[in-house]
Amino acid sequence: MKFDFDKIINRRGTNCYKYDEMPNDDTIALWVADMDFETAPCITEALRRRMEHGCFGYTMVPDSFYQATINWFADRHGWQGIKKEWFIYTSGVVPAISAIIKAVTEPGDKVLVQTPVYNCFYSSIRNNGCTIEEAPLHHATSTQGDGKNDYATNHYYFIDYDEFEAKCADPKVKAFLLCNPHNPAGRVWSADELRKMGEICQRHGVFVIADEIHCEFVNANATRDGYLASYIKEDTPKYHPFMAVSDAPCAVCVSPSKAFNIAGLQIANIIIKDDSTRRRVNRAININEVCDVNPFGVIALEAAYSAEGAEWLDALTHYIYSNYDFAKAFIEQHLPQWKVTTLEGTYLMWVKVDTDADALCSKMLKEANVYVNSGTMYDHGTEGHHFIRINLATQRKRLEEGLKRIAENVKGECEM
Ligand SMILES: Cc1ncc(COP(=O)(O)O)c(C=O)c1O
Repeated sequence: MKFDFDKIINRRGTNCYKYDEMPNDDTIALWVADMDFETAPCITEALRRRMEHGCFGYTMVPDSFYQATINWFADRHGWQGIKKEWFIYTSGVVPAISAIIKAVTEPGDKVLVQTPVYNCFYSSIRNNGCTIEEAPLHHATSTQGDGKNDYATNHYYFIDYDEFEAKCADPKVKAFLLCNPHNPAGRVWSADELRKMGEICQRHGVFVIADEIHCEFVNANATRDGYLASYIKEDTPKYHPFMAVSDAPCAVCVSPSKAFNIAGLQIANIIIKDDSTRRRVNRAININEVCDVNPFGVIALEAAYSAEGAEWLDALTHYIYSNYDFAKAFIEQHLPQWKVTTLEGTYLMWVKVDTDADALCSKMLKEANVYVNSGTMYDHGTEGHHFIRINLATQRKRLEEGLKRIAENVKGECEM
C-alpha cells in the first residue's frame, strides 16, 4: 500500500486544536473538521524544501499558484476557462466569506442559508451586521425492499424550491450562502439543483456565495438508486462548481485545506468573474486585513494541486468512504434507533439520535471519553437537538474504538 492511512499519529502536544482541547490523552476526537492523517507526501516534501531555505519573510503569489489551481479544477472537475484575473487569494474560506458578505450587503440586510449548516456561516453573517434568513433543508427517508425484506434505507435532505424562492423574494435578502457539498447535511448538489437555486437567486437579485471547501470529498460508491430518483437526474453524486453550471452572479470560495489536511497553513481562493464585484470584494479583503498569505500556504497549494496530490487524494477518499460504510453498518447494528444520513460528500456524518444531542455529547465526553459535535452548533431550531456530527476522517481503529465506546455507553453493552 502506497499511502498508510491506518498509521496512528499522536497529535497531542502539537498545539492541535482537535486534540489539545481534549481532556486527556485517551480521548477519541471525532469533532472539528480536521483529519488525523499526515498530508500528502508531495506536500511535505515541498514544504521541507522551502523550510530548509530558512528565510520566511513576506511572500508573494506566483503565476504557478494560479495555474496549478486553474489546471486542477479543469482536469479534475471539468471547470474550464477560469482566468487568473478572476482570483483573489486570502487566508481562509471563512475570511473569504466574511469579506464577500461585507462587499455585497449593507448592515441590516439578510443573508440566506440552508439549515442545518456550518456554524461559522452564522457568525460571518452576524459579524457583518446582517441577519440570518433560513431556508431549511428537508429531511426524508426512503426504504427499498422486495416486499419481505428492506435492503436499503436512505435518510437524506432535499430542497423545497417554493420555500427557497419565497425567502429569496424578500427584498431584504441580498445574498445566499451556499454550501456545496453541504456540511453537515452530506448532500452533493446536482447540476440541476444548483441551476435551479441559481435561477431563483438571479430572478430576485440575490448574490450567490458558494463555499466549495469540501468539493474533493464525494462518495464515489454512493448511488441514488432508491432515493432522490424522482427529484434529480444524476444517479451518482458528482461535484459541480456552482460557477460552471449557473449564470447567476456569484463568488466561489475554494481551498485545498480540507482535502489535504493543511487548514493550519491558511490559504484559500475566491473566484469572481465580474470585475466590479471582484473590486468590491478585494476592497473588503483589504479592509479586513486578510490580504496576506504565508509562504508555506502558497507552496502547499501548488504541491496539492498536482498529479501526485491527485493520486493521494483518490486513495484518501477511498479510505474515508470505507470508514463511512463501516460506521453506518456499525450504527445500524448496534444503535438501530439512530438514523445515519446518507453521506454523498464531506467526511462528516450527520446522525439522528433519540435523546437530546447536547446532553448526549456532554455525557459521551464525560463517561465514554469520545467527543462528537452536537447538532445544535449547526441548527439553532429544534432540529439541531436531534442530531450529532461524527468526523470520519480518522484511522479505522480510532473510529471503531470511538463507536464502540459510544454504543457501550448508550446501551450499556456491545458485542464487537
Ligand atoms: C463549509 C466550511 N467552510 C469553511 C470552513 C473553514 O474554512 P477555513 O479554515 O478556510 O476558514 C469549514 C471548516 O470546517 C467548513 O466546513
